Amino acid sequence: MSEIVQDYIEDYIRGLIPASNTQMEDFRNQAIADEIPIIHLEVQKHIELLIQSHKVQSILEVGTAVGFSAAVFAQAMGPQGLVDTIERSFKMVVQADENITRLGLKNQITQIIGDAQEKLTELDKTYDMIFLDGAKGHYIHLLDDCLRCLKPGGLLISDNVLFKGMIASNDLVIRRKITIVKRMRKYLETISNHPQLVTSILPLGDGLAISWKKELC
Ligand SMILES: C[S@@+](CC[C@H](N)C(=O)[O-])C[C@H]1O[C@@H](n2cnc3c(N)ncnc32)[C@H](O)[C@@H]1O
Repeated sequence: MSEIVQDYIEDYIRGLIPASNTQMEDFRNQAIADEIPIIHLEVQKHIELLIQSHKVQSILEVGTAVGFSAAVFAQAMGPQGLVDTIERSFKMVVQADENITRLGLKNQITQIIGDAQEKLTELDKTYDMIFLDGAKGHYIHLLDDCLRCLKPGGLLISDNVLFKGMIASNDLVIRRKITIVKRMRKYLETISNHPQLVTSILPLGDGLAISWKKELC
């Protein structure tokens, strides 16, 4: 359960989503069995929709984990689409490399190894879409570089922005998560009011923020 949406609604929506190919179904099931926090199925579907409707052909991801979402994005874009994905855990980098190779996606997905805060400052490319799925307390620190690396008309997608409901209600906040909660609230206020962005926050999965970078910035 995401704790954002009631179980019966989530189950119903998931039940409507057609199965992916067997390799990707197995990949999702294995990641869940290994307790790797991959994108929720309904979030996956929504991002696939955005990729295809916006004809996205280049994506920067923060937080590769085992490479599941990177593989989803590469397949949704088709063979010309490129994903650069940043991961700081070497164990994850190795597992992601094995998965990306097994799926035949090495020519579409490039792994960038290191901390996103450092690696983002070094990037001098721009992307059609940026997917933020790393440490939740760091989104606010990555925003300026994300905006620099996002093409005008591009999409910044931020996952887990409602963080088990804690962002919306103090009653749900776990004391040791208070710093993350404060930073995420600041992030959501910033992207909601940013002059370069139009932002919509959806109670989907663990909360998904979709920000469109205005064309004339
Ligand atoms: C939620 S998982 C990513 C899941 C993946 N996007 C998917 O849906 O398949 C978050 C990952 O981000 C990585 N991470 C967290 N903070 C990071 C940072 N500052 N720089 C690079 N990687 C980071 C963690 O090591 C973890 O593997």
